[in-house]
Amino acid sequence: MHTPAPSNSRSHRPRRLRSSPAMRRLVAETRLHPANLVLPVFVREGIDEPRPITSMPGVMQHTLESVRPLAAEAAEAGLGGIMLFGVPAERDPLGSAAADPNGILNLAIRAVADEVGGELVVQSDLCLDEFTSHGHCGLLDDAGRVDNDATLESYARMAVAQAEAGAELLGLSGMMDGQVAVVREALDAAGHIDTAILAYAAKYASAFYGPFREAVDSQLQGDRRSYQQDPANRREGLREALLDLDEGADIVMVKPAMSYLDVLSDVARVSTVPVWAYQVSGEAAMIEAAAQNGWIDREGAIRESLVSIARAGADTVLSYFALEAAAWWR
Ligand code: PBG
Repeated sequence: MHTPAPSNSRSHRPRRLRSSPAMRRLVAETRLHPANLVLPVFVREGIDEPRPITSMPGVMQHTLESVRPLAAEAAEAGLGGIMLFGVPAERDPLGSAAADPNGILNLAIRAVADEVGGELVVQSDLCLDEFTSHGHCGLLDDAGRVDNDATLESYARMAVAQAEAGAELLGLSGMMDGQVAVVREALDAAGHIDTAILAYAAKYASAFYGPFREAVDSQLQGDRRSYQQDPANRREGLREALLDLDEGADIVMVKPAMSYLDVLSDVARVSTVPVWAYQVSGEAAMIEAAAQNGWIDREGAIRESLVSIARAGADTVLSYFALEAAAWWR
């Protein structure tokens, strides 16, 4: 199949296919489309006006009113979906507002589903960290450790509440063992057989979530290393993804994206369902900060970062740049 070029020959010239913009466009191996982009959005309880997030230039904490025109804009731009995060006014150790139909995230899902349901996919983050007073993604036992199986019961209630509010795709980001199976069973038992599960299959304990913690007003002390993965582990990312596939995940995701392209590539090779990646807050912040200093070209860096993530195997990318990038790739 492969014919090596005779030595001293100049007949093999890869530059031919780079010789004009039209030729480069013709042979591009990776193409992004607005439908392959999902916009993460924050909705905060108890504020009257949208509030900027200092470490995420251009990203706001929205109100239940201001999220509606944003969702309409996302639909208009042709995005594939919108991923909602809630920032509650009150928190408790159990994260009770998460499963409350009147909790901020469930209200936001209702508002967005009412505004744009059917035009793009309404998605929600399914995790307790925004709702707990200690900021962990699960419930704590008497020794202060995150209790896996007690947490699963909360996730099950949260899932049903989100499905009832109108979310079509639930983003399970808590990294508890068995979460996909338990949530699937709870959804089915409540009659939500068509509500889909996006499993944050390989999610690493990452410093790149820094700005997100400001965005959701995180109360976390310490770290998440007893449930999120060690950045040193590649094989384990594949293991997590395979377990989630077995448990019935409809889509699997790798997160963060750019520092984990090897993991993404591994998962993409074996997955029988769509594979997504999340370009997280710190990845966006690095580009914004360097661009503000005049050290890199902002649009070029955003384009290259998204194309690299797609090239490594992501069918769809969650990105804070989704709206802007959709306009370039329309
Ligand atoms: C958990 C969650 C986090 C992010 C998405 N879902 C934070 C965490 O795991 O600490 C981070 C996303 C980002 O940094 O953009 N609810």
